[in-house]
Amino acid sequence: MQITIRVAGHSDLKKLVKLHCDSFKADEHIPVLFGTNYIKANYQWLLNSNHSYVLIAENEDEIAGLIAVSDIAFTRPMFIACLPQMLLGFLLKPWLIFNKNLWKRLTRKSEENEQVASILKTKEFAQMTIGAVSANYRGHGVFGSLVDATRSYSQARGSKAIRAGVYKNNPSSRKVFIKENWQEFKQLETKDTVFYVTCFDEYFADKFGLQWTDVNYSKRLK
Ligand SMILES: CC(C)(COP(=O)(O)OP(=O)(O)OC[C@H]1O[C@@H](n2cnc3c(N)ncnc32)[C@H](O)[C@@H]1OP(=O)(O)O)[C@@H](O)C(=O)NCCC(=O)NCCS
Repeated sequence: MQITIRVAGHSDLKKLVKLHCDSFKADEHIPVLFGTNYIKANYQWLLNSNHSYVLIAENEDEIAGLIAVSDIAFTRPMFIACLPQMLLGFLLKPWLIFNKNLWKRLTRKSEENEQVASILKTKEFAQMTIGAVSANYRGHGVFGSLVDATRSYSQARGSKAIRAGVYKNNPSSRKVFIKENWQEFKQLETKDTVFYVTCFDEYFADKFGLQWTDVNYSKRLK
């Protein structure tokens, strides 16, 4: 298996959507409830926006894994861009209106206090939006390689840290961030989600009481 990592382009859209839909059940990732076209709209935003990028791990022509990162808080701009597809999803599946988990997710902002809101608005604090590895490639460290690659890509784009929210009941994903030495960031923790952070700027790290990683130094060690 010869895995290479590269930035995804528009020609990868179909494969990205397929990998996403194959990787998540609706109870693990609420947007899947709205169907393939809504997921496609999410990836179109990620590929089109000047504020985000998608990396793929590739084995020959096959996409083994993906990871997406937004340079800014992504929830609102992505939500607005994908709203027409969401409304269409409601029209096609009107019973979604009664889905409690969906409303919990859509109103998640109410869990934020002032301190959290100010952290989320901090400039240069990138946010991982999604990650997945194809079932055929799991257990080979593919996600770790993608997670690691985001540090140098985001640093080159001007970010000083990245945060990643992971559901507490997703031990496979949590293990990867721990193995990659990302730190748990208690201030952002919610009932269901734990946040891992990697910080590559000393002053930025100090501001939030985090440790910092010299990206170039950690690359040399590998
Ligand atoms: C979570 C996920 C991205 C991990 O990717 P990966 O490349 O398999 O990661 P790793 O190879 O480092 O394995 C991580 C852990 O997954 C578990 N694992 C190993 N093989 C596995 C398999 N075939 N299927 C599921 N989990 C497996 C193990 O606990 C492993 O930890 P270990 O290496 O200490 O035993 C992948 O399982 C996945 O895509 N899951 C569905 C989508 C998802 O949860 N995305 C993350 C959202 S934040």
